[in-house]
Amino acid sequence: MKNFLHNSRHKTIAIVCVLGISSAYAMPKNIQALRKMYLSPKSQWQKPQVDSSVLWEELSALPDTPPYPESNPYSLAKAKLGERLFFDPILSQSKQIACANCHDKELGFADGRSVSYGHNRQLGKRNAPSVVMSAFGKEKFWDGRAKDLESQALFPIADPKEMAYSPQKAVKRLAKDASYKAMFKEAFGSDEITTERLAQAIATYERSLMPKHSRFDKFMKGQAQALNDKEVWGLHLFRTKARCMNCHYGASFSDDTFHNLGLTYYGRKYEDLGYYHTTGKIEDIGKFKTPSLRSVAKTAPYMHNGLFPHLRGVLNAYNGGMFHPKGKAKENLPYPKTDSLLQPLGLSQDEIEALEAFLNTL
Ligand code: HEC
Ligand code: HEC
Repeated sequence: MKNFLHNSRHKTIAIVCVLGISSAYAMPKNIQALRKMYLSPKSQWQKPQVDSSVLWEELSALPDTPPYPESNPYSLAKAKLGERLFFDPILSQSKQIACANCHDKELGFADGRSVSYGHNRQLGKRNAPSVVMSAFGKEKFWDGRAKDLESQALFPIADPKEMAYSPQKAVKRLAKDASYKAMFKEAFGSDEITTERLAQAIATYERSLMPKHSRFDKFMKGQAQALNDKEVWGLHLFRTKARCMNCHYGASFSDDTFHNLGLTYYGRKYEDLGYYHTTGKIEDIGKFKTPSLRSVAKTAPYMHNGLFPHLRGVLNAYNGGMFHPKGKAKENLPYPKTDSLLQPLGLSQDEIEALEAFLNTL
């Protein structure tokens, strides 16, 4: 895999040089027709290249307000309390680590590192995803071990490598602070501070972070100039030749399910069997949750293990059909199979550039 990354980097440099000399760019001749099609109602769009087994939804703009569940409706008081909690290291044993340490506003609410470090600077084994699309999707974490956003909020507080504390102790600590008591009262009607309320407030704040008005959203709402020709071409490739819509679709650009891209390091030092750790089912070995691609330009490095420092590397890997490692099964645990939806794509470097330009508009 190392070799692959090295090669693709060399290739990229070579192509940049070639472009520098000729600066020729092979835009498809029908680009104006494609633009017209994507500004028309979706019923008139060319069908995406998606396998028949996939229950896809068309790409679309995000709603004006994020969806909030009936069990935890939005209120400004709750979101404000959640925001304070999210940025407050009081929830960690050392009083030094806040959620925002690893989900940094300046870094698209991720941390810019391949894997995060927390309590006593211990390294975790996974990449911190952005939380801006928290309102979408059901199970949380790369391996889906939190059943929803509310229950997710209590995991990092207890994780010995993250905040290394306990939600019960955190709640007791908060109850000693009169200003927190007042905020819980405003948000929930009484000043009782419980782990459930703590989680509800944080989740409400996270949902409120839904990004609005990306250039892609504007284009979907009819602003023809919001995307340039190259980006429109990228949108078309995303839906067709590049096969991305087999897994990244709808307004959130995720199917909210789990796939194996061949990044499990099965039997090796960095092995991570993903969704299998949650379900215990053999067919889930090596599967990880399909992340949203919204704001993806801001949240490098990529994948559950932060393997790729740049989008270009991700795209080169997809173009090669991702990874299909083979090896010996361990006892009772078959060697994981890479998802058959992943195939070599035969994209030219110009097409890869267009696809990347499109991802940058999300
Ligand atoms: C030490 C760094 C660190 C801290 C502190 C931290 N997180 Fe995370 N967060 C991560 C990592 C790493 C993951 C991915 C872990 C995994 O999937 O196994 C993650 C995952 C998440 C997810 C799931 C996103 C998704 O798309 O599935 C949410 C939501 C989240 N964190 C919110 C929080 C909240 C709320 C707090 C504070 C209570 C917090 N995090 C504290 C590093 C951190
Ligand atoms: C078979 C389903 C599938 C297909 C097809 C697919 N993806 Fe993914 N994508 C995933 C999954 C699952 C992950 C996370 C995998 C992991 O971390 O092990 C992912 C991760 C990514 C990431 C990293 C995001 C992050 O925040 O770390 C990007 C970027 C991405 N995909 C873009 C694309 C593009 C562009 C295409 C089309 C060329 C595509 N994907 C096709 C399922 C898919």
